[in-house]
Amino acid sequence: MPGTCVIGLQWGDEAKGKIVDLLTQQHDVVVRYQGGANAGHTVMVGEEVYKLSLLPSGVLTPGVTCVIAGGVVLHPEKALQELDELSARQIEDFDNLKISDRVHVIYPWHLAEDRVLDKSTSDGENIGTTGRGIGPCYRDKVGRSYAIRLGDMYRDTFREQVQHNVGVKNEILQAMMGTKNFKPLHAEEIYTQYAAYAERLQPYVADTTDYLLTQAEAGRRILFEGAQGALLDVDHGTYPFVTSSNSSGVGVCNGSGLPARYINNVLGIVKAYSSRVGGGPFPTEQDNQIGQQIRDQGNEYGTVTKRPRRCGWLDAVAVRYTARLSGVDAISVMLLDVLSGLEEVKICTAYRLDGQESNRFPSHVDDLRRVEPVYETLPGWQEDLTQATNLADLPAPAMAYLQRVSELVGVPVAMVSVGPARSQTIALHELP
Ligand code: GDP
Ligand code: IMO
Ligand code: MG
Repeated sequence: MPGTCVIGLQWGDEAKGKIVDLLTQQHDVVVRYQGGANAGHTVMVGEEVYKLSLLPSGVLTPGVTCVIAGGVVLHPEKALQELDELSARQIEDFDNLKISDRVHVIYPWHLAEDRVLDKSTSDGENIGTTGRGIGPCYRDKVGRSYAIRLGDMYRDTFREQVQHNVGVKNEILQAMMGTKNFKPLHAEEIYTQYAAYAERLQPYVADTTDYLLTQAEAGRRILFEGAQGALLDVDHGTYPFVTSSNSSGVGVCNGSGLPARYINNVLGIVKAYSSRVGGGPFPTEQDNQIGQQIRDQGNEYGTVTKRPRRCGWLDAVAVRYTARLSGVDAISVMLLDVLSGLEEVKICTAYRLDGQESNRFPSHVDDLRRVEPVYETLPGWQEDLTQATNLADLPAPAMAYLQRVSELVGVPVAMVSVGPARSQTIALHELP
């Protein structure tokens, strides 16, 4: 009964979508269990490129059951748009899609709150959210008083719930935005719009907690698709510059409803360098020619917001921490091809803080801001790696780089990716 988790070990965009798509073939069920439409997962099938925000990346493989579990926050319009876009591209087999009736639903007030709140951290630096209403929706979920779950939208009380929330949210938004910028929300309009979404989504709504427990008990193979990356985990990441869910391995159980006993493989996804989109500390950032070269070669622009991603060297202190935190068995090293053409490549092996060297990842953002990375420099390589199909095709310095990353992170490398296509993947170990 293998349960396999795919977890990003950096700040997101590690190419999780590509690996989930590849592993889907060996699984019966693929599950998104946290985050929402802040995710942008790219899957390439032949020459076709798909960008998925809410639907699991398994949706491109016919016959596989795709589940959006209760820990996700769902923007219904985005979900329907994604289904429509896939249908227009002849991906139409959604009979096996299940959306939890427990998912919390994103409403227009969440989007409005996200826009206002992002500019008002006490820290002085903006989080730089994706503007998808993620934080405000999770806050209402935990706060309980103003939350609406998908299952609520099929009850007689739904209209009243919307009216109640709109009344309060208008007052809150007006206080936050000031009377001049504030445009009141209209309860009846929102109710009508969301009732229509509910109707269209109805065929997919299910008790996915019960479904997944039943599948796991029957020994079916379940693949968990993490969104974001472990450094964005609300409890264990670079708080407050994080997302609002548990995006490290620790979030799989609470988001899906499946206990840890059903997880027996955790694959950590690591970019061969680092990238971050949005605010927050980034010790190995290269705000210079090297960073620009990586951005250009890796096409490092946000899948969701199109923002240029900040780029830098691989941070083995951070990845070792997140690999331990997520219980990673092996890593996939992605976008190795992007580093071709550099004279030398660097890996951060320790942090220097107040004159002391350490490989502990600091728990407070102020300390992370102050650390000075200690680098190990390795020879670069000039060869194009995109045609490599096995390890023997890689130049010796690229092999040495992989070897060192594995040693520093403390787990074996299971896969190496040298391009976005399925075929541009080198498997080193038997896949889970
Ligand atoms: P995710 O959010 O973790 O699924 O990652 P994104 O889709 O946001 O970003 C990864 C990007 O890298 C996508 O555009 C992929 O098509 C692309 N990609 C995936 N693997 C490779 C690779 O090995 N090399 C290169 N050059 N691009 C890759
Ligand atoms: P995938 O799944 C990269 C970042 C945002 C911002 C912070 C909080 O594609 O890897 P949010 O909208 O979640 O409140 O924003 O988190 N962020 C991501 N960065 N990849 C993602 O998803 C991200 N999802 C959120 O840029 O800094
Ligand atoms: Mg992404």
